[in-house]
Amino acid sequence: MALPWALAVLSLLPLLDAQSPACPNFSVPITNASLDQISGKWFYIASASRLPGYKEKASKIHASFFYFTPNHTEETILFREYMTMGDQCLYNCSRLKVQRENGTLSTSENDREYYEHLLLPKDPKTFMLASFPEDKQYMGLSFFAEKPEGTREQKEKFYDYLTGMGMDKSEVIYSDEKK
Ligand SMILES: *[C@@H]1O[C@H](CO)[C@@H](O)[C@H](O)[C@H]1NC(C)=O
Ligand SMILES: *[C@@H]1O[C@H](CO)[C@@H](O)[C@H](O)[C@H]1NC(C)=O
Ligand SMILES: *[C@@H]1O[C@H](CO)[C@@H](O)[C@H](O)[C@H]1NC(C)=O
Ligand SMILES: *[C@@H]1O[C@H](CO)[C@@H](O)[C@H](O)[C@H]1NC(C)=O
Ligand SMILES: *[C@@H]1O[C@H](CO)[C@@H](O)[C@H](O)[C@H]1NC(C)=O
Repeated sequence: MALPWALAVLSLLPLLDAQSPACPNFSVPITNASLDQISGKWFYIASASRLPGYKEKASKIHASFFYFTPNHTEETILFREYMTMGDQCLYNCSRLKVQRENGTLSTSENDREYYEHLLLPKDPKTFMLASFPEDKQYMGLSFFAEKPEGTREQKEKFYDYLTGMGMDKSEVIYSDEKK
């Protein structure tokens, strides 16, 4: 009797999807306009991720801001990051690759590419990056804004996307600008 039950559940899935308009579209292609939109200075506000060890790492970040400098012809983004961890101030500079067609940015670490889906809410003063959105075990979502503290509306959008992905507000780790 398990099979008919499973089929009935599967047939409900598209319905459930249609009922969650908050769930972001992870495969919106990246255009020159979206690259222009994310060009400039951004503050890291909050994130949630189920990657092992992530919580420990993220809770050490008190503050972080960075500059994105996209290169439209090279399909890369120069990423210059300033981060306060404990009482240390760290600077890091790297290059992200842009995969326009599937809407992702990637970094290479230890010969592996890590993909983040770029999510652009209507408000151009904020953006998000989603990792492994299809994998409940490893999924993550990070939230950035033009000002060190996101507005209430921007945070609501972040929570919407987070719950749309199947994560919970209690999983969120916030940066702490005041320290
Ligand atoms: C997501 O965006 C792509 C590109 O704009 C579009 O083709 C696709 O239909 C969208 N998917 C959903 C579920 O809205
Ligand atoms: C994007 O910008 C690059 C560099 O300015 C240009 O060569 C390319 O044609 C643009 N692409 C589109 C779709 O406008
Ligand atoms: C983009 O990259 C190309 C190729 O490396 C380089 O020639 C060009 O000057 C860069 N453009 C900008 C705006 O940095
Ligand atoms: C700097 O960036 C590199 C490449 O992304 C990364 O391997 C390294 O851990 C970063 N360092 C810090 C202090 O975040
Ligand atoms: C995005 O596209 C690149 C190149 O086309 C591919 O290697 C990569 O696996 C894709 N990533 C995702 C998350 O779909």
